[in-house]
Amino acid sequence: MPKGRDLLGCGGKAIVLGRVKQAKGAAMVDPKESIRDKNLKARPERSALGLPMPDDFHLHLRQGEAMVLYARREALSFGRALVMPNTLPPIASSESISIYKKQILAALSEGSGFEPLMSFKLLPGMSAEDLRACAEAGAIAGKYYPSGATTNAADGPRSPDEVSEALDAMEESGIVLCIHGEDPEAPSLGREIAFLRQVEGIMTRWPRLKIVLEHLSTAEAAAFVASGPPRLAATLTAHHLLYTIDDMLGGSLNPHIFCKPILKSAADRRALRLAAFSGSPKFFFGSDSAPHPRNRKESASAPGGVYSAPTAIPALAGLFEAEGTLAALPGFLAQFGAAFYGLASPSGYIELLKCDWVVPGEIDGVVPMCAGEKLAWNFA
Ligand code: DOR
Ligand code: ZN
Repeated sequence: MPKGRDLLGCGGKAIVLGRVKQAKGAAMVDPKESIRDKNLKARPERSALGLPMPDDFHLHLRQGEAMVLYARREALSFGRALVMPNTLPPIASSESISIYKKQILAALSEGSGFEPLMSFKLLPGMSAEDLRACAEAGAIAGKYYPSGATTNAADGPRSPDEVSEALDAMEESGIVLCIHGEDPEAPSLGREIAFLRQVEGIMTRWPRLKIVLEHLSTAEAAAFVASGPPRLAATLTAHHLLYTIDDMLGGSLNPHIFCKPILKSAADRRALRLAAFSGSPKFFFGSDSAPHPRNRKESASAPGGVYSAPTAIPALAGLFEAEGTLAALPGFLAQFGAAFYGLASPSGYIELLKCDWVVPGEIDGVVPMCAGEKLAWNFA
């Protein structure tokens, strides 16, 4: 079953002109070949795009009632997601991993088929034993948030030394280290580049540790990952591929695309796009969908975060199509991340239809990515 999401616009009115039965890469379905029902011939033709079920390797689901909405929303677009641990209190023990996973599964609609992949937050002093317990509870990654780097990161390590025992154990057991790669002491726009030296240090000290540098925002970070060994990979978000800093503050201030790391220049965005289009297995999708309620975002101290889960897939299909790189989309969304983490390939597929629609101004009490913008693809 394709995931059904007649939620956001044109899905209900669209004619499915071609069904992609097997999830074997992006397939532009030729409408002329796929119309079997003569009755459809008189109706407008629309292209369909079949994709293997996307994975999201970086997601914030939050807690409580809001989490229920966000989890259900994510499950409409993705088969699996790596859930971030920066809740309050953090997900940083085997008990909290098990409880959070149960809460997420309980929030999902019956038969959603969505699988939360669990991570834990690396806290100073974490022992090898703590780490092994997290792995036994099902965590596949530990997240390194430099202290103060982003939302709920005050308790993060100030240096890798503070989590060295846990990193030893992660290297030993194959648990992936996910890094929020920003030095909070550096000027805002230089934080990512400033942190690359620390990543080098971690790579030297733990030569077998698998590392994902999260949500790249600069050309320098993309080049750093591209030139690194295969055990170093990176996630790219939809918002860093779509927007630049000028979209956020070049005219009037748009707090809904204010995020960490901050959006950068058009040249940086170009480098990130080229990485996403490259077909290199080192670059895969992680939405960093990070919802904050509208009133918090439209306040005097707006937190960073873009709610991209509802719109990332249609927006990315539009971007890859416009750049003539649709063939690179399945690997980016549904192959490279799973391979890096040693997971089975996604099963199932989704189907998009060519169909202009305008993204609503609010979804789940949050202003979503691309709010008010016209997108060219929507879910079937
Ligand atoms: O913009 C962001 N928001 N970046 C992060 O790293 C964290 C996230 C959040 O949790 O709100
Ligand atoms: Zn994040």
